[in-house]
Amino acid sequence: MKGKKKIIITIDGWSSCGKSTLAKQMARELNYVYIDSGAMYRAITLYFLRNHIDWTRHKQVEEALKQIDLQFDYNENSLQSEIHLNQENVEYVIRDLVVAEKVSEVAAIKEVRAFAVEQQRKMGKPKGIVMDGRDIGTTVFPKAELKIFMTADTAVRIERRFKELFQKNPNTTIEEVRNNLEMRDYIDSHRDVSPLRKAEDALVLDNTNLTEKEQLDLAMKWAREKLGTGN
Ligand code: DC
Repeated sequence: MKGKKKIIITIDGWSSCGKSTLAKQMARELNYVYIDSGAMYRAITLYFLRNHIDWTRHKQVEEALKQIDLQFDYNENSLQSEIHLNQENVEYVIRDLVVAEKVSEVAAIKEVRAFAVEQQRKMGKPKGIVMDGRDIGTTVFPKAELKIFMTADTAVRIERRFKELFQKNPNTTIEEVRNNLEMRDYIDSHRDVSPLRKAEDALVLDNTNLTEKEQLDLAMKWAREKLGTGN
C-alpha cells in the first residue's frame, strides 16, 4: 500500500511471555516484517558453543563475531522468517535448552550487543517492522511509535514454556524449565548493558488472564491508534 504510514513496533518483556506469538500475529495483520532479536543472540551463542569460544575473553569474542553472518530468510513452508547462521538455517536448533542455558551470559557481553544492535537498527530503517526482545524499545529504537512491554505471572510463563519444550523433548522437566527461566530473567534484568526494563512510554500488556485473541485485539487497537486509522 503506497504512501501508507509505517511505524516501528517494539515488544519487550520477560522470557516466555508470548512476545513472539504476538509479534508474528501483529506483523501478519499489518503486513509488516517480524524480527526475532532473541534469535540473533541465540545464534551467536550457538556459534560460540560449537566453536569453543571462551566468551570471557574479549579478543576471542571480537574475532569470533567477525566470522558470524546472520540473515533472516522467509520460509514459504513455515510461513515465517527464519534465522540463518553463516547460511545454515538454525531457527530450530537455537531453541534447545543447551543454547538457552548460555544465551543470557552471551547476550550480556558489550561487544555482542553492539554487533546485534547495529544490524537490528539497519533492519528497522524502512520501518514497517515488529521487533521483539528485551531492549528494543529502550536501546534499539528509543523513538519507536508503539512500544509494548509484556508480562505475565511467573508460574504461568513456566507452564507455557514447559508445554512447548516437553512436546519437542519428553525428557524435559518442569524444574529445569523453572531454573532456566528464573536465571535468564535475573541476568537479563541485571546486566550492565541495556538491561531489560520497561521504556517509560511503553504500554504494559499483562497476558496472565488473556487469550491470544484478546491480547492481539488489544495490541492492534493500540497500533491502529498510533497509525491514526481509528478503532
Ligand atoms: O527472546 P528469547 O528468549 O529468544 O531471547 C533469548 C535471550 O537473548 C534472552 O535470555 C535474553 C537475550 N536477549 C537480549 O538480551 N536482548 C534482546 N533484544 C533479545 C534477547
